[in-house]
Amino acid sequence: MDNRTYHLTTFGCQMNEHDSERIRGVLEAGGWLEAPDEESARLLVFNTCSVRESAESRLIGRLGEARRLKGEDPGRIVALGGCFAQSRQEAILDELRFLDVAFGPRNIGELPELVEAAAKSGRQASSFVDEPGSVASLPSARRGSHHAWVQVMTGCTNYCSYCIVPYVRGEERSREAQEILAEVERLVDEGVVEVTLLGQNVNAYGLDRSGPGSADFAGLLEMLDAVKGLRRIRFTTSHPRDLGQDLVEAMRDLESVCEHLHLPAQSGSTRILERMNRGYTAAHYLGLVSRFYDKVPGASLTTDLIVGFPAEKEDDFFATLSLVEQCRFDSAFTFIYSPREGTAAAEMPGQVPDVTRKRRMGELVALVQRIALEKNESMAGSEVEVLVEGRSRQGGGQFRGRTRSNKIVNFAPAGPGEPTAGDFVQVRVASVTSTTMKGVQAPAHPGPARD
Ligand code: SAH
Ligand code: SF4
Ligand code: F3S
Repeated sequence: MDNRTYHLTTFGCQMNEHDSERIRGVLEAGGWLEAPDEESARLLVFNTCSVRESAESRLIGRLGEARRLKGEDPGRIVALGGCFAQSRQEAILDELRFLDVAFGPRNIGELPELVEAAAKSGRQASSFVDEPGSVASLPSARRGSHHAWVQVMTGCTNYCSYCIVPYVRGEERSREAQEILAEVERLVDEGVVEVTLLGQNVNAYGLDRSGPGSADFAGLLEMLDAVKGLRRIRFTTSHPRDLGQDLVEAMRDLESVCEHLHLPAQSGSTRILERMNRGYTAAHYLGLVSRFYDKVPGASLTTDLIVGFPAEKEDDFFATLSLVEQCRFDSAFTFIYSPREGTAAAEMPGQVPDVTRKRRMGELVALVQRIALEKNESMAGSEVEVLVEGRSRQGGGQFRGRTRSNKIVNFAPAGPGEPTAGDFVQVRVASVTSTTMKGVQAPAHPGPARD
């Protein structure tokens, strides 16, 4: 093949973002180069998500464009990977005849061969596995130098009744602690100062392993905290059923572990939580939150919430609003329940009408935003440590970065010289919105900094 250029589009969560680094890694190891846009690329790859219907409809829209480009130049190759592809498996090739390649999240390593086979034969090629497998050892092409994703576990076996992830990502499996440590040390040698540890339920990390060198999640954080040069450790996602106090204490005590917890509540109604198969009550969740705020003062707390789950009554929805009032989240991802074929909830009676789901969503978002703004307002006037990500999209010579609590900060540099991505600077917060802060870089001063 002469023209070995590819274009990759990623949908979905951070796990998919990280998988896309691997897709780039294996393609580039196979001699493929990234093209600036779809038009000029020979190979179009889509890394897909199927967690909600909206993710799938966005994808279908984009695939229309890929089909058009393929029509213009039949030598183009279109490859579909990720969770949506896995949920349909081989059937997707019949549904979408213009596709050349389909592959699952655990088959990324085979992508170059699949592309080669399809190009040579002119026939569709695919690969999907059902058994657990690790893609952690594949080459990875990261974008940006100071931050890296590190996958600590694959899959999920929680089977929340609404969720497709266990069906498309396979069984939960932890990576070996020593292997993770070695990866983090290598990344730090390459200049990384911040890592985000990824897993669908990091609180269950290590529980499926035993023997010498094994660790639970708090133990893993302790090992990684000792890595010199690593300034910030983040992790996502925590499951309230498995959140132990040792992890909360690790967040308090370990210097590089950031004071931010993403703890999806999903609902404030115990009746709905039961039907969701979440394994905790609203009271349990509230207890966790109050202990978290007590132990880690100044920490930020974020969550995921679903409205309109089957049989959600007005009382259940009020319980969610009440939970939000009590937990005072710094931000929340809010979702309208979306039935996923093959999950238990899709078969449950009492699907909530669209108009009710939308009205509840509106009320919830307004409350979340009001509280987020109040929390950010309490930061005005304070000085925060910001890890610089680059120039701000707002322009005007502004830069952009994040606090340890994961808030986005746009700031004017103090000079002399401009900050660069990966620098740590102190910023005095001048004004806030519900989602961002604005400020001015403070002159450097010695001493530890926390926000
Ligand atoms: N493992 C993580 C993230 C899973 S997907 C966790 O357990 O939190 C991210 C979020 O999408 C979930 O937390 C949930 O709020 C939402 N979600 C998943 N399936 C959904 C569905 N069918 N409809 C609406 N929201 C859904
Ligand atoms: Fe889905 Fe639940 Fe697993 Fe999260 S913990 S990925 S919501 S099944
Ligand atoms: Fe992530 Fe979507 Fe798959 S949320 S795990 S890419 S279904």
